[in-house]
Amino acid sequence: MDDDRFRLLVHGVLDYGIFLLDTEGRISTWNAGAERIKGYAAAEIVGRHFSVFYPADDVAAGKPARALERAVREGRLEDEGWRVRKDGTRFWANVVITALYDEQGRLRGFGKVTRDVSERRAAELALRESEERFRLLVQSVQDYGIFMLDPGGHISSWNAGAERIKGYTAAEIIGRHFSVFYPADDVAAGKPARELEIAVAEGRLEDEGWRVRKDGTRFWANVVITALYDEQGRLHGFGKVTRDMTERRNAEQALRERRRLVGHLVEAQEVERRRIAWDVHDESIQSMVAVGMRLQLLASRLPEPHKSAVGGLDEAVAAAIARLRGLVSRLRPPELDRHGLVEAVSAYTDDVAGRWGLAHEVRDELTAEPSPEAAITVYRICQEALSNVHKHARATRVGVTLSTVDNGTLVRITDDGVGTAGTDAGAGHFGLVEMHERAEAAHGWLAVRSTPGEGTVVEFWLPLLPDVTEPEPEP
Ligand SMILES: Nc1ncnc2c1ncn2[C@@H]1O[C@H](COP(=O)(O)OP(=O)(O)OP(=O)(O)O)[C@@H](O)[C@H]1O
Ligand SMILES: [Mg+2]
Repeated sequence: MDDDRFRLLVHGVLDYGIFLLDTEGRISTWNAGAERIKGYAAAEIVGRHFSVFYPADDVAAGKPARALERAVREGRLEDEGWRVRKDGTRFWANVVITALYDEQGRLRGFGKVTRDVSERRAAELALRESEERFRLLVQSVQDYGIFMLDPGGHISSWNAGAERIKGYTAAEIIGRHFSVFYPADDVAAGKPARELEIAVAEGRLEDEGWRVRKDGTRFWANVVITALYDEQGRLHGFGKVTRDMTERRNAEQALRERRRLVGHLVEAQEVERRRIAWDVHDESIQSMVAVGMRLQLLASRLPEPHKSAVGGLDEAVAAAIARLRGLVSRLRPPELDRHGLVEAVSAYTDDVAGRWGLAHEVRDELTAEPSPEAAITVYRICQEALSNVHKHARATRVGVTLSTVDNGTLVRITDDGVGTAGTDAGAGHFGLVEMHERAEAAHGWLAVRSTPGEGTVVEFWLPLLPDVTEPEPEP
């Protein structure tokens, strides 16, 4: 390339300020990039000393002169620092000064290439700051153990959460192999190494299982291991996040156990009630019906006044039979089997609310029929809620609404009574407790809302299909 074209190129470059200084440091050429970066036109700046680009304190400290001395001594000098534009504003500059010699080896001046790297610097600072903040965040997180492993599985960083959960301080644990967290049998089975292999193969691995604290106690951990790669794609190590799930697991287990027990109780109660209902129906009622028939036969053969006396006995027996039939149907409502849930609840509500002098309404908005087990639960809770309305509410009306919501059966029993005094009735009151337990045993929920003077709403929901909870491995 000839000199002219080369000069044109340098002259037109916009991204770099490229210019020459004479041996004293005075500017002798200028280009478009220098004008763009520093704000001076060629006519304004050529002939002036290059120290005008430096902040006053750098000039006072002799920095421009020192830069030229070093360029002479070392041939070239690269520097990053603040420079000043014509309008007085600063920018972060990357500067390369090269000493220029002629063929006789005499110093002819300096070439200077300046770049405005303010944006890059701002981005770097922001990145560094956010990295620092992120590091502080990770370090202080208490709920999660967050730490790093080197490619061989040795711990290389530690945080407050890891210390809290596992009991080791950073000084004790850094450098040790992460298999110390695993129970001996898992280590013997090669589990730690396998987990790293899976993390490498699949990028990440999640596991739940027992881990061991420094003091030897176990905890139920949720662990996520992520393989970390550097920019060249080489395995840099692993990030590991550990949570202590012991409490949640215990709570879940306790809940499961409670549901199981309550479920057994509720079932045993139903079986017992059905048995009693059958006994009463098959034995007591049948034999009383027989007694009634004999009394009628006897009455037909007797003269008065004995005839009326025996007739009166027969009526008493008939009334007792009717009461027993009522008892049987409360113990084991026949409509549930024959006509379905809504019929049974309606019949029961008509019966009792009628007797108690309450206006009543049963609304059927079901779009799916609950399972037989759920139907019994609904029926029983309605029975208890209605009996509470009768006993406590001093209401004039009661409403029962059954609907299908969220894949389950939602039932609402409302009254316009005085409202409940408080939720805890104390010793000797089991109705509400039993309602809650029945709903829970069916994997649903029950809530009582009450406004003093306006009434009470008992609302409960049971799933159509009870969720299947898997059994968990034992320690
Ligand atoms: N619909 C209601 N209106 C007003 N108060 C109510 C209503 N339902 C319940 N209560 C109040 O809540 C308390 C607890 O009810 P719960 O059914 O647990 O016990 P109980 O009916 O008193 O006794 P039990 O049901 O064991 O025979 C009642 O004593 C009553 O004070
Ligand atoms: Mg009650």
